[in-house]
Amino acid sequence: MNIVLFGAPGAGKGTQAKELIEKYNIPQISTGDILRNAIKNGTKLGLEAKKYMDNGQLVPDEVVNGLVKERLAMDDCNQGFIMDGYPRTVIQAEVLDEILKELSKEIEIVLALDVPTSDIVERITGRRTSKKTGKIYHIKYNPPVDEKEEDLEQRADDKEEVVLKRLEAYEKQTAPVLDYYKKQDKVVMLDGSKKPNEITQEIISILENK
Ligand code: AP5
Repeated sequence: MNIVLFGAPGAGKGTQAKELIEKYNIPQISTGDILRNAIKNGTKLGLEAKKYMDNGQLVPDEVVNGLVKERLAMDDCNQGFIMDGYPRTVIQAEVLDEILKELSKEIEIVLALDVPTSDIVERITGRRTSKKTGKIYHIKYNPPVDEKEEDLEQRADDKEEVVLKRLEAYEKQTAPVLDYYKKQDKVVMLDGSKKPNEITQEIISILENK
């Protein structure tokens, strides 16, 4: 199954992707994670991407498209994949269609998580990630049982002033991607304000009845 998880920053894409990759044994392709790893490793790509990410702006299309093309060519994508945070512009969506066409594949479904903007800032500023496992927590909605054991960290771009810029970029550049996929009749809208496990169950039921 070739899936796009779509939604605003903090809509719960990463949280849902982690559940689905375990259930279906297919990889999560998170362009945000790929870029953050590049920053951690101090690569040229990381240094370039950091300038944009720290300011809540999108990294240029040609950079991200190249990363995705390389990742999709890997063998573990043969049985399907979950796109998280990509495509984020109409150009990226068009390029993704071209890349997949060359591989005789296509996006089968776009699961769009809808969350009121008023909830987003609280969700993102309260997010913490385990340095050990990569698991995503929230200090209020989903705290870890043992905070010390998990060794939590906060993302550099999860400060309120940067979140507001990310939301602006979402509205201007990313929201139109939904119309692109609606025209292809691939979008299923989900209420992203439900509890995480309720959303996961809903997604599983949609995928199994497809
Ligand atoms: P990226 O890493 O993709 O971040 P994002 O899209 O802004 O999304 P987030 O990771 O913030 O949120 P999420 O939807 O995964 O939510 P999560 O599950 O963590 O991108 C970061 C930056 O990289 C971009 O700004 C850009 O600069 C660059 N970039 C990345 N991809 C790019 C691309 N394609 N093109 C150009 N630039 C790119 O949940 C958030 C919090 O809410 C957590 O604490 C979680 O526990 C909690 N939560 C989750 N679900 C629920 C729920 N149902 N109820 C209550 N709380 C919940």
